[in-house]
Amino acid sequence: MPSPDSGTSAVVRPAAISAQGWGWRHAGRTTQAIHALDLDIRPGERVLLLGPSGAGKSTFLHALAGVLGEEGDDADETGSLLVDGVSPKAQRGRAGLMQQDPETQVVLSRLGDDVAFGAENLCVPRDEIWKRVHEALDDVGLLRSAGGSASGNFSLDHPTSALSGGQKQRLALAGILAMRPGLILLDEPTANLDPAGVLEVRDAVGRCLDKTGATLVVVEHRVSVWKDLVDRIVVLQPGSSSSGGSTPAVLLDGDPNTVLAQARDMLTAAGVWVPGYVPATRPRSGTGAGPAADSGAGSSRKGASCCSPPRSLRCPANGHGAGGSKRSPRVLCSPDSTPKCLPDGH
Ligand SMILES: Nc1ncnc2c1ncn2[C@@H]1O[C@H](COP(=O)(O)OP(=O)(O)OP(=O)(O)O)[C@@H](O)[C@H]1O
Ligand SMILES: [Mg+2]
Repeated sequence: MPSPDSGTSAVVRPAAISAQGWGWRHAGRTTQAIHALDLDIRPGERVLLLGPSGAGKSTFLHALAGVLGEEGDDADETGSLLVDGVSPKAQRGRAGLMQQDPETQVVLSRLGDDVAFGAENLCVPRDEIWKRVHEALDDVGLLRSAGGSASGNFSLDHPTSALSGGQKQRLALAGILAMRPGLILLDEPTANLDPAGVLEVRDAVGRCLDKTGATLVVVEHRVSVWKDLVDRIVVLQPGSSSSGGSTPAVLLDGDPNTVLAQARDMLTAAGVWVPGYVPATRPRSGTGAGPAADSGAGSSRKGASCCSPPRSLRCPANGHGAGGSKRSPRVLCSPDSTPKCLPDGH
């Protein structure tokens, strides 16, 4: 089993991901949560993973973190999913997973101890752990140095219970960084945060990626927040299993602007109002009597206008989060039942 990256440099060996016909059926389920996924992610790539609720996003992240399959023997895997050519389960510490609920990710009562926890579990030497703890807390903007020059306001013994939601998420990120993973997995990291917390976390992630060069897969429904930080967007679609495997798991894949334009076109063609997009319309005829007819993408927008509410951007919640693993404090799972949607305003 490979040991985690060591040494004082925060630069890591970025991970490569390869899914080939990969699928997973959770224990007790008759259909796969994700089916026949073909996806390659290059080392150092930053990917935003989108898709409606139930498309299997969390299942995929849990698989990459190596924590799927602890729910019982009845679960079933097909195809292959590899990180650096090896099963994710065989690579402890290679991926760090952060989830959406700040409260479930705090492990210990003091800031420094909490960040050290994951690295301790990986048996990193003690001196090295505390170097990493200082550096990681500074990188996420939480640490106050003796000279007052560091980025944040807190000392190593600051109580974790006194942190805000955004600060707790940055703490979780620091714990991941201290493990020096080549793959950072974020499952809706800002879903429970206020607008200021969202930006704090996003900016901290960006700084850390710039510094470490790690590969990123982030699941988040606030597309506009992450769009400029990623270099690729992958959109998964649900139902590929129940349709007998004829539907590919990946609906769209490409650079952010292209994918978002394609998504916008698909949504507008389906009659869905898309924020920031004014559909093409035919010029009104002279008298102004009667409604203007749509043209182009708008021609199939039966009953929808550019002013209609974004009804189809609201997808039904399935009320079912993935997993429940307690294998690592950084991969504690919480049920997530928030309604989810495809791209928001961008
Ligand atoms: N631990 C589990 N046991 C059984 N079924 C599960 C489990 N976790 C997820 N599922 C099911 O697998 C499918 C995919 O769920 P998953 O949580 O991966 O989707 P998601 O894309 O992350 O959805 P959301 O946007 O709501 O978080 C759903 O049908 C879900 O009910
Ligand atoms: Mg999910």
